Amino acid sequence: MRTLRTQVVIVGAGPSGLLLSHLLSLRGIESIVVERRTREYVEQRVRAGLLEHGTVEVLREAGVADRLDREGLVHEGFQLRFDGGQHRLPFTELTGWTTCMYGQQEVVKDLIRAREAAGGAVHFGIDDVALFDVESDAPRARCTVQDEPAEIIGDFVAGCDGFHGVCRRSLPAGSFTAYEHAYPFAWLGILAEVPPSTEELIYAVHERGFALHSMRSPRISRLYLQVGPEEPLADWPDARIWAELRTRLAVDGREGLNEGPILSRGVTAMRSFVMEPMQWGRLFLAGDAAHIVPPSAAKGLNLAVADVRRLAAAFAAWYADGTMELLNRYSRDSLAAVWQGQEFSAVMTSLLHRFPSDGAYEVRLRRARLQELVTSRASATAFAENYVGLSRARLVAGGE
Ligand code: FAD
Ligand code: DHB
Repeated sequence: MRTLRTQVVIVGAGPSGLLLSHLLSLRGIESIVVERRTREYVEQRVRAGLLEHGTVEVLREAGVADRLDREGLVHEGFQLRFDGGQHRLPFTELTGWTTCMYGQQEVVKDLIRAREAAGGAVHFGIDDVALFDVESDAPRARCTVQDEPAEIIGDFVAGCDGFHGVCRRSLPAGSFTAYEHAYPFAWLGILAEVPPSTEELIYAVHERGFALHSMRSPRISRLYLQVGPEEPLADWPDARIWAELRTRLAVDGREGLNEGPILSRGVTAMRSFVMEPMQWGRLFLAGDAAHIVPPSAAKGLNLAVADVRRLAAAFAAWYADGTMELLNRYSRDSLAAVWQGQEFSAVMTSLLHRFPSDGAYEVRLRRARLQELVTSRASATAFAENYVGLSRARLVAGGE
């Protein structure tokens, strides 16, 4: 068996694993990244698109934001449609912070290029990772690298392998507690080759269910529909998708939606999950490996980036002078931010969606909440501070 040595073994080359590897290399710390999928697959996987101000700052500090700064679409507000009417939530006017629309797979491409340029080790197509001795000071991952059995030994292992990864599942039963919630609906998402019909995102609350009009570039639109929890894609031919989007996004009965070829489509479950703690021995989990949120508030990627930034700083402190303080605080500090993201994601999910159990009473309560949001500056400001990530920044600063 081949033995490879490094400082941090990173499992998963999604945004969390790649960014961690890059932030570590900027501090002179070596890592080896092992990823189950091919490079082409991770570069094409369509997912998040809304980057908070703080996420953009981290990517800039890491020197991987040149293309993002050129191509990302900066937003200062969003549209909220309900009861056939349209309202605007001017989040930048309320908070001073903007958001940026830039596809997650573009962030991933930029990070892979940066790792390549720096000579970083990222191994794709490794589908048999198993972890050993994570409670010792020589934790290791065994897997097949270039058709040869290998053992990768590090000082630490970072589990950045997403919700379905192997790292969380390597922990002994009873070493952590999982908190979960499943919603009785899902999102059908499409990427379409058509200029967005709107400059700002549109969140539309409709009696037939929620719809979101988002975008990736001046030529590519991203749209979502609330659908049943186990919805087969086969039930949604293109014409039905566009008809439903037109209906749910109409204002005052007027429809106006650019339509074009659908480039990709998928159904995303709406669920929440948090594991506590996010560390076991020398294994540290980050991003979706430790927590997921329903996509409504676009927090998943932003929480993942915040974890990784904290973890990179904690590893750097340990390598600089052996101090454990930041590593010991990693789980606690991350979880405070994660639960805040969970709370806002739950609020936004219940505000926007039609629940199968809703009766006339619940529908009226939701309408009252929406009206409060568009008529009270105090409510809109509190909402906007969460939406742009300012509340989390304040929480983190308060904890330091
Ligand atoms: P992942 O992106 O899941 O990456 C984990 C990586 O580990 C993957 O490449 C995987 O192949 C690899 N892996 C898995 N198992 C193994 C193994 N055994 N060995 C080696 N490698 C393994 N978030 C937002 O902030 N804003 C949004 O607008 C937003 N919209 C979303 C829309 C959709 C439809 C979805 C599905 C998600 C959305 N999210 C959004 C959430 C966001 O995409 C995730 O939070 C983000 O991908 C987390 O990154 P990660 O690197 O932690 O995990
Ligand atoms: C996107 C997803 C979201 O959940 C959201 O609130 C805003 C944008 C998107 O994928 O573009």
